[in-house]
Amino acid sequence: MAQRIPESPEVTAHTEEAWVSVIQKMDEAYADLVHYQVEIEDKNAELNEAKSFFDSVQGSMSDLLMVCDHQGVVQQVNRSLELLVGQSQSALVGVHFSTLVSVCYQQKVQSFSEQLRLQPIRDCEIALTSPQGDIPLSMNCSPRKDSRGRLIGMVMVGRPLGELQKAYKALNSAHAELKLAQERLIQAEKMASLGRLVAGVAHELNNPISFVYGNMHALKRYTAKLLVYFDEIQSGASRESLKELRETLRLDKAIKDLNSLVDGTMEGADRVRDIVNDLKQFSSTQASAKTEFDLVHVVRSALQWIIKESKHTIRVEDNLPDYLQAWGHSGQIHQVVVNLLQNAADALKTTPTPSIKLSAGTADNQVWMTVEDNGPGIPAEDLSRLFDPFFTTKPVGEGTGLGLSISYGIAIEHGGTLKIENQPHGGAIAEMVLPLKECSDV
Ligand SMILES: Nc1ncnc2c1ncn2[C@@H]1O[C@H](COP(=O)(O)OP(=O)(O)OP(=O)(O)O)[C@@H](O)[C@H]1O
Ligand SMILES: [Mg+2]
Repeated sequence: MAQRIPESPEVTAHTEEAWVSVIQKMDEAYADLVHYQVEIEDKNAELNEAKSFFDSVQGSMSDLLMVCDHQGVVQQVNRSLELLVGQSQSALVGVHFSTLVSVCYQQKVQSFSEQLRLQPIRDCEIALTSPQGDIPLSMNCSPRKDSRGRLIGMVMVGRPLGELQKAYKALNSAHAELKLAQERLIQAEKMASLGRLVAGVAHELNNPISFVYGNMHALKRYTAKLLVYFDEIQSGASRESLKELRETLRLDKAIKDLNSLVDGTMEGADRVRDIVNDLKQFSSTQASAKTEFDLVHVVRSALQWIIKESKHTIRVEDNLPDYLQAWGHSGQIHQVVVNLLQNAADALKTTPTPSIKLSAGTADNQVWMTVEDNGPGIPAEDLSRLFDPFFTTKPVGEGTGLGLSISYGIAIEHGGTLKIENQPHGGAIAEMVLPLKECSDV
């Protein structure tokens, strides 16, 4: 049996010291462990809190969120995206994001990661496939970088365009309805001015037509006489009797008249054609294209109708040049000028020596035209309301109050202006300014 060698008292004391120190170290290590454990638990609690905060923010986002790695593989999506595409996060994680994009936008999204290297993608229109069909989205895509600035993925945030598109559609159809209503209003006003002019037009047409009629009657009479004469020739009448007949029928005068009768008839027909051409100005609609036109011709043709229709004699001072090129719808500008002249003529009803002065010219790449009258002018309190729709001082049936409001709209739509002022020496002056050439903003 092995015998233990008895230890000396020094050795025993040493060993005990060593044990005490080991136990102390173990205690310290244990205390550290407990401390670390508490710290880890605290950190864990903080992490859990941060995660649940992040999850709740993500979950309540109405916009769609998709986080992908640098190759476009989905790493995380939010609840809105899950609901939209009808798939859970676990099914979506790991697939390439482009598989969620509708076929028509596949090509567009292929270049996302390349584009992201240059700059974030803003308001890009794409569509995601869903059980309800393709859902159009407006998508923003930003790069995700690591602490060293290397691209490690992308974050996409999208918003369905459905609501926006609905709002746009409603806006567009409201706009279209307004435009239609405006066109109808313009047309109605045109018809009203046309109505006022019909009497003048009828009178104007009556003149040439009545002398065309007169000439035709004379021609008919002459044809009958010539027929009698030719019948006599055919029946072998003698030279003497033919000469006598020619004198009785006054054939020489008839033959001399023939040319001037035909010329007069032609002239009457030309006049009718010109009147009809002028009238066409009234029937041109907004649908016709803007073109270059002679403003002076438009003003003179409008003047003709207004002066003819006016019940009293108005002196006209015509300071217009021979030709003035303007740009736009000549029919609409004709409508504006008719209204300005009509307003002037109406204002002159009680003026003892009524007169209208017309001037026009070019300045600063624009063409201007003024209508001045020596009427009573416009009361100061009415000046600010002249262009209001339905503002009129005329009796019912004589004015709708739409003339100036529509004229103003037409001038503005042409890139021009329209203004009316009182003149220092009395009467009113209306000035219309139009572009000389096509404007890029019109
Ligand atoms: N040259 C003018 N002199 C005095 N008043 C004018 C003149 N031009 C316009 N006004 C005033 O402005 C008002 C509005 O003119 P606007 O052309 O819009 O309508 P209206 O002539 O009354 O009716 P409508 O043109 O629809 O037949 C007129 O009623 C008139 O009181
Ligand atoms: Mg008017």
